Amino acid sequence: MRIVSGIKPTGRPHLGNYLGAMREHIALQNEGHECLYFVADYHALTTVRNAAELKEYRRGVCLDYLALGLDPNKVTFFFQSDVPQHAELAWILNCVAPHGLLERAHAWKDAVAKGNREMNVGLFTYPVLMAADILIYNANQVPVGQDQKQHVEIARDIAEKFNHLFGETFVLPEPRIEKAVATIVGTDGQKMSKSYGNTISIFDDEAVIKKQIMGIKTASIDLKDPMPLENDLILSLYEQFSSSQELEALKANYQAGGFGYGKAKQALLEKVLSFFAEARARRKTLETSTKLDQIMEMGAQKARTLAESTMQLVYQKTGLN
Ligand code: TYM
Repeated sequence: MRIVSGIKPTGRPHLGNYLGAMREHIALQNEGHECLYFVADYHALTTVRNAAELKEYRRGVCLDYLALGLDPNKVTFFFQSDVPQHAELAWILNCVAPHGLLERAHAWKDAVAKGNREMNVGLFTYPVLMAADILIYNANQVPVGQDQKQHVEIARDIAEKFNHLFGETFVLPEPRIEKAVATIVGTDGQKMSKSYGNTISIFDDEAVIKKQIMGIKTASIDLKDPMPLENDLILSLYEQFSSSQELEALKANYQAGGFGYGKAKQALLEKVLSFFAEARARRKTLETSTKLDQIMEMGAQKARTLAESTMQLVYQKTGLN
């Protein structure tokens, strides 16, 4: 089975990215699948307008993935823009993708509704480039969080349309979503997202992570009263990083009363810091590594070979050869 996924370098990855996608990406490298993961820097261009910033984010995402345990010898790991065939195929798919299909994309509709972003054409055709990312490698599965489900479905629709028009060419991909972590909530109760400023970081300074966790919105409950267990972000995040006994102990504290959200947040902070301690140390070492370019070029070469072979077929099918 071939697995493909990407992450957009528009900021520093957060717990939503990790639990919803990166953790699964890394786990899949040990399950005998062929995995391709990339830093979606072409996609980031729809919002990042500063070269120095983009360079820093691109490098940052690489370091984060490697520090979290991604093994570039087991997976093909690369920058999207190192394989320009993604953009080439995106143009060809643009000529097939129905306008109405893109108008129905949630991310596009949200951007229109908010009216607070620069509405460039790249934002509109974003799912077409994403379809190219996926179809160019004939991915069977695309591990993502819930917010990207519709984009993968659009990729599938575009593949079907292309196959119908030009004959069997692309494998139809499926989203692969871990139910329990499909949508990680942010500190303000909305979906955790870089663009909402409600994230909990993995690799920022401890003081930053502390401030984020202490800022989690909680119910106003008298200190002596029990705290409800339902829909509690502290508990649901704590669950991801602790054993079932530890979770039960924290729940017991919630129910006993006289505990308070301050202590619960402190417990979560300690868990998050200890869970990522090794990765944080590894990232520090990687920061000074001179091997990063070599690692990314190795991945790009493998990806280009696969992409070139798909493009040959696409040229043939469309008459571009
Ligand atoms: P991006 O960079 O926004 O997010 C990377 C991954 O993290 C997941 N994610 C979440 N999961 C659960 N809860 C959350 N709060 C949360 N926030 C983010 C996302 O679902 C995603 O899996 N368009 C993509 C990048 C991309 C891509 C692709 C993905 C470009 N081409 C091809 C798969 C295949 C994006 O912006 O993800």
